Amino acid sequence: MLKVTIDGHSIEVPEGTTILQAARLIGGDIVPPAMCYYSKLKTSGGYCRTCIVKVSKGSEKDPRPIPKPVASCRTPVADGMEVQNKSSADLLESRKAVVEFLLINHPLDCPICDQAGECHLQDLGFEHGLSKTRYDFTRRVFNKIDIGPYIKLHMTRCILCYRCVKVAEQITDGRVHGVLNRGDVSEISTLIENVVENDFSGNVIDVCPVGALTDKTWRFKSRVWFSKPMDAHRNCTKCKGEVTMWLKADEVLRISARKDKWGEVEEWICNDCRFEKKDLKDWVIEGPTAIDKHSVISANHYENLSSLKLDISKQQNQLNKKN
Ligand code: SF4
Ligand code: FES
Repeated sequence: MLKVTIDGHSIEVPEGTTILQAARLIGGDIVPPAMCYYSKLKTSGGYCRTCIVKVSKGSEKDPRPIPKPVASCRTPVADGMEVQNKSSADLLESRKAVVEFLLINHPLDCPICDQAGECHLQDLGFEHGLSKTRYDFTRRVFNKIDIGPYIKLHMTRCILCYRCVKVAEQITDGRVHGVLNRGDVSEISTLIENVVENDFSGNVIDVCPVGALTDKTWRFKSRVWFSKPMDAHRNCTKCKGEVTMWLKADEVLRISARKDKWGEVEEWICNDCRFEKKDLKDWVIEGPTAIDKHSVISANHYENLSSLKLDISKQQNQLNKKN
């Protein structure tokens, strides 16, 4: 086992574990953000640089620091390694630059983007972004592209994280889309307006960290925080049939895969469950989905009422003591 210390927290991990995986094992706010790494997809990571960390001690054997920030999702742990994430002001400054870079071509259309409220770039922009752009050049513009009956691509929002490409390669039967061109003219596309058609193609929507790949059956129907997420399941012959259902009263607005605490899909779901089963009668409802209490989605939701009551009574007690 190898010992690694991240922001003062130590853990022993097996050889081959990356710094990001070790940080996730420790948990809490020392975990670096990840816009392209996805633990369920092989060879993901290494594209966006949001997960950078400072290695202040290389290892017990060779304690020299690594002279520049490294991508934690691609850097394996060495025995005795010491890493800084939140505890390094320089590193946070570098991450700010990465976020600024990611936002160079990204439109600020959060008020109308379907991903608002569950967008990792929005969270990063809020935490590290500048309030003004320093970019003088013309931004890239693209027409919106229909890639099949269910998915619409807004290339202007894409950060080229490659997750959708890996989903198509590893989860579906045949990949017909990918990254075309190189450098600042790279884009996600199907070569000749091809249709992304496959029982599992809808999963590209769930892995997209921004609002570039959108679900045509849900687009512009509601803001995510106005809907009620519920765990539900059905008997499905293609996938496990376990989903999160997004309701407005009794109307099923959206079906998505269930996600873990890192925002990653737990089980891939098929297009039938995602796009074709929009009737409550199709599903067995298990109960409200547990949503991180810091997420805007959980604002005013009933599953948080007990903790809210607890908070209020704590505050009342403190006030009573002061008086
Ligand atoms: S469309 Fe979304 S998932 Fe695909 S590369 Fe762009 S940002 Fe990543
Ligand atoms: S998450 Fe590590 S480079 Fe993108």
